[in-house]
Amino acid sequence: MHIINITGGKKLGGEISVSGAKNSIVGIMPAAILCDEDVNIYNVPSLSDVENLKTILEYLNVNVEIKEDYMRIIPNNMTNKPINSELSKKLRASYYFMGSLLGKYGHVEISFPGGCVIGARPIDLHLKGFKALGAKITEDGDTMIIEADELIGTNIYLDFASVGATINLMLAAVKAKGKTIIENAAKEPEIVNVATFLNNMGARISGAGTNRIKIEGVDYLHSCFHEVIPDRIEAGTFVVLGAALSDNLKVKNLIPEHINSLLEKLREMGVGLEVGPDYVIVSKPEHYNPVDIQTLVYPGFPTDLQQILASLMVLADGTSTIDETIYENRFQNLYELVKMGARIKVEGERGYIYGPTKLKGTTVMATDLRAGAALVIAGLIADGQTEIQNADYILRGYENIVEKLSNIGATIVLK
Ligand code: EPU
Repeated sequence: MHIINITGGKKLGGEISVSGAKNSIVGIMPAAILCDEDVNIYNVPSLSDVENLKTILEYLNVNVEIKEDYMRIIPNNMTNKPINSELSKKLRASYYFMGSLLGKYGHVEISFPGGCVIGARPIDLHLKGFKALGAKITEDGDTMIIEADELIGTNIYLDFASVGATINLMLAAVKAKGKTIIENAAKEPEIVNVATFLNNMGARISGAGTNRIKIEGVDYLHSCFHEVIPDRIEAGTFVVLGAALSDNLKVKNLIPEHINSLLEKLREMGVGLEVGPDYVIVSKPEHYNPVDIQTLVYPGFPTDLQQILASLMVLADGTSTIDETIYENRFQNLYELVKMGARIKVEGERGYIYGPTKLKGTTVMATDLRAGAALVIAGLIADGQTEIQNADYILRGYENIVEKLSNIGATIVLK
């Protein structure tokens, strides 16, 4: 396990660029095997989650070539094999092989996925959708066998607008016979990006980005070029960092509309923002107002950014609150902030942050990806030295984080 060491209190400035979206590429790579030819993907971030998906693809005899941010996937010689827990537990997104292998072969054998421990994270909606398309599911301990002689398009209503279930069901339905409609679909930009990728290969998906996605099954998917959208959570992380410590930090290569909910909260906190077509310039204000946030599905305030914003709330003049409505266990970072001197109370799904407090560097633990990133921000704000243990979590979702932050003036080392 890696460790990150930070010397806090340094002023940040200059420019920082956002990489391709983790939660897009982790859907796109499993989706690529549906193609009957090669696929070419640009703006691919270099992340451990991407490495882990590459390992699974190579295990399935899929050829994966990576050159900087370009990836070519050639599934022509692939074989359908069981994906055991050693492979599937490395990340959450291994579950997208359920939809793609089922769509391609009508048969998949796979163990339950892994991922950050932020709540129960069941996959019942995925499985219910596969069944609606005609699949039979057999569970044997940790392993599931999902199979169908033929997948037939149907209407599927999701009880909750789940990102994972929406993408997985699109993958299964792309080659199904006839028309599938996913009602109460999730609307996150990553879903639109995966749907566009599939359409670039010849799929017939419409309505992605709305709560009703329509998929007309096709028989053949051809070679394509595709670009991964900028990572809105990485973008939000850098903007919050700038709001804490910078004088005119320019966060580049982002789609500002994707982080509107965050930008509005930052304005409410009194943070100065200049929003351009593909950048945000952010500066630290004199004082921060406290704010209340509630996490919601897109375009509401993203759960992936609540932990990040918590590190800034510590500086606000008064009490801020966070209501986490998506996951039941996503406040582990708050307990680590307490070790750094923050005054915080957690009551069920609500966190209270009593500011302002001066944070002091100490040894803390990254308990999941976004908790880790939140502690990087806290460490950079704090006086003195912070050691973040379990830093591997952070490398799952932030490309070259140490180099990027060093370039804007941070003192940060990965060991
Ligand atoms: N849920 C169910 N049943 C299901 C599926 C989901 O009850 O079958 C529940 C979950 O337990 C959770 C809620 O619905 O309480 C949201 O789950 P969702 O399926 O939307 O999330 P996910 O697909 O597991 C993705 C991202 C997460 C992000 C969420 C919400 C990927 C690989 N992961 O997870 O990203 O928090 O959507 O936006 O795309 C991260 O990047 O740090 C991260 C955790």
